[in-house]
Order: sequence, then C-alpha cells, then structure tokens
Amino acid sequence: MATTTEFNSVTLASDVAAAFPESIKGKTILITGVSPSSLGLATAAALATQAPKRLILTGRSADKVQAAVDELKSTYPDVNYEVLLVDLSSQESVRSAAATLNRNAEIPSIDILINNAGVMDIPERTLSKDGIEVSFATNHIGHFLFTNLIVEKLVAASKSSQGPVRIINLTSFGHQFSPIRFSNIDFTKIAAELPEEERPELQKAQFFYGRDWSNDAYAGMFSYGQSKTANILFSVSLNHKLRSYGITSYAVHPGAVDTNIGRHSNPAEVEHALARAKELGFAGGSKTREQGANSSVWAAVNPHLAPVDFVESLVKGVYVTDCAVSDEGCADFARNAMYAERLWNLTEELVGEKFL
Ligand SMILES: NC(=O)c1ccc[n+]([C@@H]2O[C@H](COP(=O)([O-])OP(=O)(O)OC[C@H]3O[C@@H](n4cnc5c(N)ncnc54)[C@H](OP(=O)(O)O)[C@@H]3O)[C@@H](O)[C@H]2O)c1
Repeated sequence: MATTTEFNSVTLASDVAAAFPESIKGKTILITGVSPSSLGLATAAALATQAPKRLILTGRSADKVQAAVDELKSTYPDVNYEVLLVDLSSQESVRSAAATLNRNAEIPSIDILINNAGVMDIPERTLSKDGIEVSFATNHIGHFLFTNLIVEKLVAASKSSQGPVRIINLTSFGHQFSPIRFSNIDFTKIAAELPEEERPELQKAQFFYGRDWSNDAYAGMFSYGQSKTANILFSVSLNHKLRSYGITSYAVHPGAVDTNIGRHSNPAEVEHALARAKELGFAGGSKTREQGANSSVWAAVNPHLAPVDFVESLVKGVYVTDCAVSDEGCADFARNAMYAERLWNLTEELVGEKFL
C-alpha cells in the first residue's frame, strides 16, 4: 500500500481510503451519479472498504443505481446502502429528493457529500425543463440546489463528528475551456459578442480538439467547461460560507478515465485531444476507474488537507488532482473569489431561493 507521501495519479482509491480509515469508519457518505462503470461507483467501492455506516448513492435511473448497489453488496455486504433517485437537471426533482432525505430521521447527519454526477459534450444546445442550458443545469445548478437544501445534515455532522466534514465537487481539466459567461449563461452569443473576460478559450480548444468554434454560439466542450468552472467556484464559496462550521470543500479533477462520460463526444475529437494531452506530458486516458477515483477519496477523507486560503483574490488550495492540491492546474477565472460570489448570487436567482 502507498503511504500518504507516495500518492500520485495512479494510486488506487482503496489505498487512499486505507490510509485514512478513521475518516470513513462509521460515517455517512452521499455520492451523486453512481452507476455501473462510473467514477461514482469506483469512489463508493473504495470507501466501502473502510466500514462506513451508510453509503447514500444517487442516480437518475433506478436500474443503474440498483445495479451499482448490487455490485457493491456482492463485495461489501455489511455496508448499509441507501438509494436516492434524483434527476439533477430538474429543480423539481432535486427539491423532491432533498425533501425525502431531510424527512428521513434515520439519517440525522451526513459527514461527506461527493457531488460527482455529470454530463459532458451535449452536442446541440439543449435547455433543461427549467429553461437553463442542460450541462450547467445538471452539473452545477442541480448540485448547488441539492447541497444547500441538505446542508443542515452536514452542519449536524460538523457538530458531532471528529473526522473531516467535506463537500467534494467533481470538476475537470475541461474547466479551462470556459469561464462563467455571466451575461450569456445559455449560449446564444458567439465569443466575439461576449465581454472579453467571459469568452471561451477558442485557441486552447482548437489546439486540443483541432476545430475552430469562433463562429459557433454553442459547443459542447464550452458548455461543459462553463459548468466545470462553476463546480470549482461553488467549492470556493462553500469554504467561505461554511468555514465557521469547520466544513471544507475541494474541487477534484479525476484525470482522463474510461467511463460513460464520453457517450455524447465525437470520438475523433477525443482522440485528437488525448494525443495533444500526451504531447504535453499528461497521462492521457490511461487511468483505470479505481485510479480515477483516488483524488475524490483523498480530498474527502484526508484530515491533513489545509483549508482553502482566501488571503488573495485568487484563492489557493481548492483544486485537487492526482492526490494533490494544484493551484497551477486551475484557471485563474475558476478560483477568483469575486466570481464565486457572483455565481452564487446568479444561481440563487436561477433557483429562486437564497441560501447561507
Ligand atoms: N471520466 C473522465 O475522464 C472525467 C474527467 C474529468 C472529469 N470527470 C467528472 O467525473 C464525474 C463522474 O463522471 P464519470 O466519468 O463517472 O461519468 P459517467 O460514467 O457518465 O457517470 C456520470 C454519472 O452521472 C449521472 N448523471 C448524469 N446526468 C444526470 C442527471 N441529470 N441527474 C442525475 N444523475 C445524472 C449518470 O447517470 P446516467 O448514467 O443515468 O446518465 C452517471 O451515474 C463527472 O462530474 C465528470 O465531469 C470525469
């Protein structure tokens, strides 16, 4: 087993979990987006090795979550599994799932929340039931609303738990392709029509994917990028707003891992991007799911992680990848405390409710 200092991109998530058993044993942990062959399942499996009290596993498809639970049960039969169905793209569904959880007196507290579910590369501009671009609605707004609606369970854990109480938001290297387009969240304008600081990274996208999107109002990678930037800024805000409870939040890039995330992607463009990443010295698509889940587990259970540093306007210590904090891997626009506050306010408007 690797020691803490030896953790790296290919460490197994179960080895990370085994290094911090006290942060997991007897804890209640909720993971969104758990289905066969996903990072959510690999994360749950790693955590299940260290006897958590309860794993609450969410997904939008009952069959898929149940298949994941069956897989977990066959290896870790002693863990208590709870299934919670939620479609994160629908605010109504998120409110209903949160209400179900809040009503459940058998789950008075949640120690670790891993906001892991996600969609990527939706080919055409698509609006959610609530009229919001669907990647942003699913990856950011659904998790924002769900987290805020159940936050009292985390606060309850912070009052009684000895171990870390954490909120982990899965992000991606792909955040680098777009800041938050505050003036055009829903992708109706081409880059040149946006204020400079809101424009997508056209050159970076062309370098990785071999395509010029300057005349397109919408591109899947930019909507994914915006939503993944939002995941980091959400972590920034959570640290700011929940620090008095000792609750901390980190945004995790898992690396390139073979899951179902690429179901909407153009295979030729993905191949191009992976080849470019390799040229730049990144590990490419070589991580297994057990390795890909390592940073989620590390950020969730390592009690020695430093709190996020708000001394400068660009915060430090919020972005985690390969079992390490990486400020250099995080775009400036994704760790800007002012943008984090702006996004929080905008998201409150979009869900019609104020929090924290
Ligand atoms: N794999 C990678 O290389 C990679 C790289 C960077 C970041 N990430 C991030 O890692 C996270 C996990 O992704 P993954 O690679 O494990 O992909 P995945 O296999 O596609 O899993 C994504 C999970 O999210 C669920 N989901 C999607 N839309 C949802 C919705 N509207 N409501 C509720 N659940 C929904 C999916 O359920 P269904 O199957 O029912 O749709 C699935 O369980 C994502 O946030 C992704 O952005 C992955």
